[in-house]
Amino acid sequence: MSEIQVDRKKFLATVGVGALAAMTPEDKAEELEHYMIDLLEGHDHAHGSHEKDELGVPCARPCEIRRPCCDEEQEQPRAPRGTGNLFQANGRVFEPMPEKPTLVDFFNLRFAPARHVLQSANYALQTGQPEETVLACLLHDVVQNLIKVDHGWWGAQLVEPYVDERVAWAIRYHAALRFYPDESVGYEYPEMYNRIFGEDYIPEPYIERDYQHARAHEWYMDARLVTLNDTYAFQDGVDVSIEPFIDIIGRHFKQPKEGLGYGGTPSSHMWRTIGNPNKPL
Ligand SMILES: [Fe+2]
Ligand SMILES: [Fe+2]
Repeated sequence: MSEIQVDRKKFLATVGVGALAAMTPEDKAEELEHYMIDLLEGHDHAHGSHEKDELGVPCARPCEIRRPCCDEEQEQPRAPRGTGNLFQANGRVFEPMPEKPTLVDFFNLRFAPARHVLQSANYALQTGQPEETVLACLLHDVVQNLIKVDHGWWGAQLVEPYVDERVAWAIRYHAALRFYPDESVGYEYPEMYNRIFGEDYIPEPYIERDYQHARAHEWYMDARLVTLNDTYAFQDGVDVSIEPFIDIIGRHFKQPKEGLGYGGTPSSHMWRTIGNPNKPL
């Protein structure tokens, strides 16, 4: 078992040199995290030797959504980087959802393999953390299937009607806290950020503001633990089943009897969207 390794050159090639220059440090950090999760989820398809990009580096994107690195695909534009995994142009066929889908159905039919969040929740479970923290870890990045931009905020909204408000709060603020070390719990600024980007930076004011708010909040540690457990959740070759979490979901996730997406909550539409990526309107 080992942490997945990020090849700096490959990573930069997936972004594109020109695009990289135009990205803010937050964008770069987001892109890196998404790239690592994609690697973990098995989206890193090795291509043949002809499939090199302009830097001569094999594509590290899913085969079906390559950047225009191969001659025959020069015309194929790339989706915006914030596009969720389910909305990538990769020809995926979606299995139908049950009439009254549950959270576990979403894990099995839409989020799978979900290695990153399952590993994160598993670490929380194995180290005896509160069940609410386990649930927060399990849900903290699932919204990236829908959208990646500002995923902490979107992710909190997605689950807010169904979980304790501290769980949603932890998910909302984990995104900002990633950029700030806390030696008291052993959370260091990710070395990966320095290694990949080779720079220190000051997060944008809205992120700094949210960090200061969270830092002073009585629930601070709820969000901090999500960032801490995150660092143990990029393990190559580690598959974790949803099974160990089913009881915790049962105790802490308010499954609507009409089915997730049909309970008339402020985020029902988000679940329906995840369930039906091909619905035209
Ligand atoms: Fe995250
Ligand atoms: Fe994460």
